[in-house]
Amino acid sequence: MSTIHVIYYSGTGNTEAMAEAVKKGIESSGKAADLVSIGDATEDMVTESDAIAFGCPAMGAEVLEESEFDPFFTSIEGALAGKKVALFGSYGWGNGEWMRDWEDRVRAAGADLVNDEGVICLDAPEEDTLAKLEKLGAAL
Ligand SMILES: Cc1cc2nc3c(=O)[nH]c(=O)nc-3n(C[C@H](O)[C@H](O)[C@H](O)COP(=O)(O)O)c2cc1C
Repeated sequence: MSTIHVIYYSGTGNTEAMAEAVKKGIESSGKAADLVSIGDATEDMVTESDAIAFGCPAMGAEVLEESEFDPFFTSIEGALAGKKVALFGSYGWGNGEWMRDWEDRVRAAGADLVNDEGVICLDAPEEDTLAKLEKLGAAL
């Protein structure tokens, strides 16, 4: 059984907590999952998978984290066509613009964006968001 990778960046732990809930959801559907911090992610993890989850908070000015996450995502973006992709991330004060832009990139790449939108939450995830994230993982 192939493992579904949950690749994420998290500076202060909020998106990491979201990633753990996605992993739990994947496992609840009987599949194997692993959490991959962005520094450990490889392009093969994406190219060899049919389904994958990505998590990244809003950073900079409504963009993906720019030193590690965005360069990695850009490097694999062209390989997402036909794959199931789940997106999630935490934000602090914006209105979710970074996620809308990210969703557009995933759709433009020809991927099947799970639920047709990412799951976002203000700061740390609470029970309702954790439940949504588990469903997101289960849908992968
Ligand atoms: C350098 C930096 C830039 C940020 N830029 C934004 C932003 O543009 N919009 C926003 O809503 N939140 C922004 N935030 C807030 C983070 O998205 C928020 O604190 C989030 O919970 C961090 O998730 P993490 O704990 O997974 O790192 C920024 C935080 C930092 C440290």
